[in-house]
Amino acid sequence: MTASTTGPEPLPDFSVIRSHIAKLPRVKLIERPTPITEAPNLARVLNHDRPGNPRIFIKRDDLTSLALGGNKLRNLEFRLARTMSEHADTVIVGLDLQSNSARQTVAACNKLGLKTILVLEGSKPNVVQGNLLMDYLLGAEVHFAATREEQRQMLDSLADQTRKAGGRPHILNDNPMFDVASAAAYLEATLEVLEQLDAEGLAPSCFYMSSSGKGQAGIVLAQRLTGLGFAMHGVTATSEFHLPSRTAAIANETAKALGLDLVITQDEIVNFGEFVGAGYGVPSEAGIEAVKLFARTEGVILDPIYTGKAAAGLVAHVREGRFGANDVIVFVHTGGTPANFTWGDLWVDDTMATQRTTTP
Ligand SMILES: Cc1ncc(COP(=O)(O)O)c(C=O)c1O
Repeated sequence: MTASTTGPEPLPDFSVIRSHIAKLPRVKLIERPTPITEAPNLARVLNHDRPGNPRIFIKRDDLTSLALGGNKLRNLEFRLARTMSEHADTVIVGLDLQSNSARQTVAACNKLGLKTILVLEGSKPNVVQGNLLMDYLLGAEVHFAATREEQRQMLDSLADQTRKAGGRPHILNDNPMFDVASAAAYLEATLEVLEQLDAEGLAPSCFYMSSSGKGQAGIVLAQRLTGLGFAMHGVTATSEFHLPSRTAAIANETAKALGLDLVITQDEIVNFGEFVGAGYGVPSEAGIEAVKLFARTEGVILDPIYTGKAAAGLVAHVREGRFGANDVIVFVHTGGTPANFTWGDLWVDDTMATQRTTTP
């Protein structure tokens, strides 16, 4: 990598960027900034045969205040502001069976005094675990739909029923803010990271984040708006999208919504597709290894579906020697930890015990 390291230039003033983000209506859900912590044991283990470790930091967006945290709580501050402005009292949302987004949405709605009805794609498992368990604990009304089509019909009929019962429903799937809200949220999160590292006399060389385009679009906007020369490496957990074009489109839509005069092109987007493994939702060998490495060197719990695969990208690239002693890598931990409980069998073995760097 060529980007900056220790002893950075003084940070530019971010107040203009923040004033653009402030154009979006917002409710407060989480405490900011989320912590950022260095991962020196991980850096050492990854560089055991090479002099000159890059420094690795973890931005703890798994610690975003509510219901076991995650990246969605940041964008819910914008999305639910719109819900509140429509004076809704019930949020109805259709998502996947083990959705991190669903769990965080229910928590956020609870905080705002809104009822949540979830329509999850799939059927109720015999053993309720992970995000679904948290959905129940948080008090959501949970329905199951066999297909996307049935899910859509159920969203509409539950909204009708809510109306007939005197309620004011808001179908969150029809709220057009998801992309822009996520990108604006991670534009802001990037400024947080820049300030947190600056306080230590550091500047990032490269970000890694699990990305299907939305949050990454915000980091790409931050790259352009700050001009600070850091790289952004998204690592996708799904093969569903063409990430360069999707991410650029979301960045441009967000720029427009924020009143920013700029255009991002798809050749500016870096997203690695080779860490998906067998497919979305299926743990990969490299992802499992990365989850164990973070846990066993730093005590930080990732997950095998999103963050583990992103971490596998970081691990592979550091091992390849892409970074040097002057590099500062920021891994953005986007949450997803409840998935560990639905994939419990992955962790009940001891083959990685030798990766421990300290004696108990
Ligand atoms: C834990 C986790 N990381 C990353 C992502 C991807 O986020 P985005 O859609 O903003 O790219 C998700 C999305 O569901 C997620 O749950």
